[in-house]
Amino acid sequence: MQGLQRIVFQNTKCLSDLRHYCYKPIKRPTLNRPDKSEFVTKASIEKNVSLSKVLKTRISAAGPISVAEYMKHVLTNPNSGYYMLKDVFGEKGDFITSPEISQIFAELVAIWCLSEWQKCGSPGPLQIVELGPGRGTLSQDILRVFAKFGLSNQFSLHLVEISPYLSELQAKRLCCQSAETKKEDLDSVPYYRKGESVSGIKIYWYRELEQVPKSFSIYLAHEFFDALPVHQFQRNDDKWREILVDVDKTKENSFQFVSSNVVTPMLSVFLSRPWIDKNSLPRHVEYSADTERTVDIMAGRIEECGGIGLIIDYGHSGEKGDTFRAFKNHKLHDPLLEPGSADLTADVNFAHIKSVAEQNERVITFGPIEQSDFLHRMGGEARLATLMEKAASPEDADSLKSGYNMLTEPTKMGSRFKFFAMFPKVLENHLSKFPANGFFDTNLKIN
Ligand SMILES: C[S@@+](CC[C@H](N)C(=O)[O-])C[C@H]1O[C@@H](n2cnc3c(N)ncnc32)[C@H](O)[C@@H]1O
Repeated sequence: MQGLQRIVFQNTKCLSDLRHYCYKPIKRPTLNRPDKSEFVTKASIEKNVSLSKVLKTRISAAGPISVAEYMKHVLTNPNSGYYMLKDVFGEKGDFITSPEISQIFAELVAIWCLSEWQKCGSPGPLQIVELGPGRGTLSQDILRVFAKFGLSNQFSLHLVEISPYLSELQAKRLCCQSAETKKEDLDSVPYYRKGESVSGIKIYWYRELEQVPKSFSIYLAHEFFDALPVHQFQRNDDKWREILVDVDKTKENSFQFVSSNVVTPMLSVFLSRPWIDKNSLPRHVEYSADTERTVDIMAGRIEECGGIGLIIDYGHSGEKGDTFRAFKNHKLHDPLLEPGSADLTADVNFAHIKSVAEQNERVITFGPIEQSDFLHRMGGEARLATLMEKAASPEDADSLKSGYNMLTEPTKMGSRFKFFAMFPKVLENHLSKFPANGFFDTNLKIN
């Protein structure tokens, strides 16, 4: 942005000229925008005015911001970001995730972690690292499964969570005791909170993956990458431009998308990336520099210290271009309306993740494969049958069944959600004999 601002200031006399001179409003092609009036209530406007003000001030002072900067502010601004101050999950929230829908999901992920860890020779001490744990449900179920196998004394849990509110919620759920790190100790320890589960498992919280100690780790990211900011670029007449967010002066507290009239620094970075094929890019593309950095760290650590990565999210393999959207009360919502009141998200580009991870032959990767295939190959139906047999009532059995259907039906979450795994490159031969569970159809046909 700084380069863009410099160019812009050299060419314009005052900022108000800039609005009309440099940026033109553009129509977004794919969003199924609901009627704005449907969602606007006085209370919700007041609650989100402070974030709107922050954004407006920022834009008035220095010009339109990237979609990534907008998304970052809206989701994680320390004072009023969407994730920072409240529980947004579940039926009463804005969206519901797989671990919240059925225990079978996390149980099968836990069994996968165990089996792949054992395949690596059960190296210890094991760190389980979860990025963006939400309510902590996935980690809670994993602790339960590891305890069942008598492994509670063999690992520690490391949670990368930016939201102080959610970290407290997670601690309440996972720990019998926990405490925030004292201010005076923050320079000497990397974690901002520490706790212990009832079975004695040590649990730590960090703001960044870099802060987690380097050691053999299983990295889990469920619906984490879709929350990371994306830049949006668009090609018009063979010219690439970045899409930015500006104040819409025609309406109160409103924002609009505009197109930059120069190549922004982030657009240059994107166009110079070795893995993009400029000739086959769709007209709109999204690029998450934060995803690139996180995957790079994860793959680097897996190569250096050993480990396994499992990324689960909704996404595509590079063919989609404009997926930035908002959810409020389980419905699509205008992402520029009442910033902070709705979840902002973008589909994960698994082709990008794969290219970054596989750079310099650090790791080998499997997937993305569909969630329904993974859960089915991991024995989901057998687990469902066992749980239904033990259900306390026919209603409980029905709810187990409908939860599992929700996760696996292709028209629900079965196809949209994908599983993607990374292992150290040195295990390539070993994994060709003992393939990663869940990623291959192991029903061998014997003639
Ligand atoms: C969509 S929620 C997913 C929650 C959980 N994994 C689940 O599936 O229920 C995203 C989670 O990532 C956290 N988060 C978002 N951006 C983050 C960031 N930059 N660094 C660390 N955590 C972040 C949020 O606070 C939240 O816990």
